[in-house]
Amino acid sequence: MRTSMKIFKDFSKMLDFYSQFNPSPLSIKQFLDFAVLLITSVTDSRFLRHMIILLFSPPHMCPDKTVGHTSLSDWSNEKEEQRCVKASAKSLPSCARRSACERTSFIFLRKELPVRLANIMKEIQLLPENLLRMPSVNLVQSWYEKSFEEILVYESEDTSDPKILETFCERLIKIHNRHNDVVPTMAQGVIEMKQSCQLDQHTEHSIQYFLDRFYMSRISIRMLINQHTSLFGTNLNGHPRHIGCIDPNCSVTAVLKDAYENARFLCDQYYMISPDLEITEHNGSEPGAHISVVYVPSHLYHMLFELFKNAMRAVVEYYGSDADNLPPIQVTVALGKEDLTIKMSDRGGGIPRSLIDTLFQYMYSTAPTPSPSTDSTPLAASDGDNVSHPLLAGYGYGLPLSRLYARYFQGDLIITSAEGYGTDAIIYLKALSDEANELLPVFNKTSSRHYRATIGTHDWSTQNQTMGMRQFTTINDKRRISAS
Ligand SMILES: Nc1ncnc2c1ncn2[C@@H]1O[C@H](COP(=O)(O)OP(=O)(O)O)[C@@H](O)[C@H]1O
Ligand SMILES: [Mg+2]
Repeated sequence: MRTSMKIFKDFSKMLDFYSQFNPSPLSIKQFLDFAVLLITSVTDSRFLRHMIILLFSPPHMCPDKTVGHTSLSDWSNEKEEQRCVKASAKSLPSCARRSACERTSFIFLRKELPVRLANIMKEIQLLPENLLRMPSVNLVQSWYEKSFEEILVYESEDTSDPKILETFCERLIKIHNRHNDVVPTMAQGVIEMKQSCQLDQHTEHSIQYFLDRFYMSRISIRMLINQHTSLFGTNLNGHPRHIGCIDPNCSVTAVLKDAYENARFLCDQYYMISPDLEITEHNGSEPGAHISVVYVPSHLYHMLFELFKNAMRAVVEYYGSDADNLPPIQVTVALGKEDLTIKMSDRGGGIPRSLIDTLFQYMYSTAPTPSPSTDSTPLAASDGDNVSHPLLAGYGYGLPLSRLYARYFQGDLIITSAEGYGTDAIIYLKALSDEANELLPVFNKTSSRHYRATIGTHDWSTQNQTMGMRQFTTINDKRRISAS
C-alpha cells in the first residue's frame, strides 16, 4: 500500500514537472534537415550547429506556467522554439554520423515526449467528472500513464550505449502500437457519457475543445515517434524517396488520384455509381510545372480521402444513385508563394450556412449510424501504418480530424457552400517547409480556464436563442429526432 502511494506520488510529481514545460514545435524543414544530416555527408558547420542547438536544447518553460500570464496562447508559438543553448558542432563525431544522429534524436525525444504527454495528460485531468468516470476514458488514461512512465525510464540512461538506443527504439514502437486505438476509444468514452447523462452546452464545448487538442497532441507524438523509428528502426520497408514519413517531393496530384480511387471504390460498393474526377493545376511559382510539396503524404491522403468520400456521397445522394450521369468532382491545385491550396468542388446540393460550424463537431453526421459489427477501423489515424477498412460515412470524425491534420503544420481546412448547388472544401498547406511549424496544444492557465469557464451570455441577439434551439447537434440528437 505504502509502495503504491509512493509510486503514485512520484508519478504525479513527474507529471507536474514535465507539464511545466512547453512542447517544442518543429517545422517540416527541421524534421527533414535532421534526417538529411543522417544520410548525407554534411560538412557545413553552421547547419550542424543549428541542428544541435535545436535538438539538444532543454524543454522551454512557459512563463504562463509559473506566473499565470493571461494573454499567452494555449497553443504553442513557433517563435518560442528559437531557444539558445550553447553547444558546439564539434561535439558531434563525424565518423559515426548515424549513431550520433540517433543519440541526438534520443536525447531530444526522451525529454520532448514526456513534455508532450504530460501537457495533454494534465488536460485530461480537467475533463468533466462524468467523462473521466467512463471506462473507455480510463483505458486511454492508463495507456498514457504507462507510456509516460516507460519513457521516463530513459531519463538518465547512458546515451552512448548502443543497446540503450536500440531498446529505446523498440519501446517507442510498442508505445506507438499501444496508442493505435486511442481515437475510437476516446470517441467511445464520449458516447458512453452522452448515453449516461444529458450534456449542457458548456460540457459540449469543453469536450470539443479538448478533443481537438487531444487528437492534435496525438498526431504530433506519433509524428515524432514515426520519424525516429523509421530512421533508426530495423524496419526498412519505407518508400525509397521518403525521409522518415516525409516526402520531400510529394506530388499532390498523385496523392489526389490515390485518395480518389480508394474513395470511389467505397462509393461504388455502396451506391454502384460514383462521380468522375477533374484535376486542374496552377503553379503560380513556376508556371506549367507539376506541383509538389514537402509534406507527410499520409496526412495529405487522410484529408483528401475524407473530402472525396463526403463529396461523392453528397453528389450521389443529390442526383440519386439511378442517375444517368453525375457531375464530376473538380479539384483545383494552386501553388503560390505562401500557400498551396487544394480546392475540391462538388455539385452535391451544398450545405445550409447555419450548419457549417456544426460540421466540425465530433460525431456530427447526417449519414446512417454504422453498425458496430462492421469490420472497419473508421477512426484509425493515418500514420501511414494502419491498414484500415473504412466506411463511406457515419462517424462524423472525417472533417474535424482532417482539419487537425491540415492545421498541424499551420495549414487549414475550410468548407464553403452554395446551398442548392454544391460545396467547396479547401485545404491550405504551407508552401514553404520552414513555415510549416507544428501547432501544438500547451497546457497552461489559459487552456485550463476553458474547462472551467461557463459560456457567457450572448451580447448580440441570436436566432437560436429566440427559437430555443440547441447550438450543437450530435449524432445522438439526430437519432433521437428521427426516432420521434
Ligand atoms: N461535400 C459535402 N456536401 C454536403 N454535405 C457535406 C459535405 N461534406 C460534409 N458534409 C456534411 O458534413 C457531415 C460531417 O462530415 P464528416 O465529418 O466527414 O462525417 P461523416 O462523413 O462520417 O458524416 C456529413 O455527414 C454531411 O452531412
Ligand atoms: Mg465523412
